[in-house]
Amino acid sequence: MTVCYFTGSGNCLYVARRIGGTLLSVPKLMRQDKIEIADEAVGIVCPVYNCEMPMMVREFLRKARISAEYFFFVYTYGMGYGEAFAHVKLAAESAGLKLSYISAVKMVDNFIPYFDMQEQIDTLPEKDVEGQLALLCSEIAARKTVEVEITDNTRAQMAVYREQLAERFLRKDTALHYLVNGSCIRCGICAKVCPADNITVTDKVRFSERCEVCYACLHNCPHNAIHLPQEAGSLRFRNEHVSLKDIIEANS
Ligand SMILES: Cc1cc2nc3c(=O)[nH]c(=O)nc-3n(C[C@H](O)[C@H](O)[C@H](O)COP(=O)(O)O)c2cc1C
Repeated sequence: MTVCYFTGSGNCLYVARRIGGTLLSVPKLMRQDKIEIADEAVGIVCPVYNCEMPMMVREFLRKARISAEYFFFVYTYGMGYGEAFAHVKLAAESAGLKLSYISAVKMVDNFIPYFDMQEQIDTLPEKDVEGQLALLCSEIAARKTVEVEITDNTRAQMAVYREQLAERFLRKDTALHYLVNGSCIRCGICAKVCPADNITVTDKVRFSERCEVCYACLHNCPHNAIHLPQEAGSLRFRNEHVSLKDIIEANS
């Protein structure tokens, strides 16, 4: 089994590890000219962003040649995922892949504009992540299949999110608005955890227009020096089973 993952704050890396098999980082694969993955079972684990998949994962599905009898997809999310499953079914179809199974694991919501990380961490036990993972892993091991139905209502909901929110929350120039405060020691960790090679650090931190909005730079800065113009709280989050070194290895 091969599991491809995309992560900003570690939830997806943890879930990918729990599923098992050969783990491949989507950002690393995307730096290759050609991506060819063949296995009996191939899966993708990524976060929900604005009720769909990260931009890079969509591009990955277009670019990669995946050959699998059992193709599965797992989202991690914090609050709700709307029609995110439908996005996967349609993107998989366009890539010539049949989606065998899809699921979502509710974890800490790392969306800093809306959620205070302390509150997210305090209420995490209510989400029973380990219980969700036990079920997920057993279903994948049993090669369970799931059908995703796409109705007119599904398409209408997808259009609402696309038109009203995507332009606000999923923009490649997002990082141009990030603020770096005086705690920054120019250690360069932000550049190393960025999956999109969007950050350079010299005498100052510079962002370009390839942001994936994963918030890896905000959540993993050892000095909490990177901020958004509006935040629900100042605490940052990284999955408790994942280290800074793991995120650097995954994304740089
Ligand atoms: C830009 C952005 C948008 C998000 N949108 C959603 C969303 O629509 N629904 C949701 O439940 N969680 C949303 N989240 C939360 C993440 O999906 C969730 O915290 C995920 O587990 C993070 O995975 P990671 O730790 O591997 O990066 C969003 C997070 C970010 C950064």
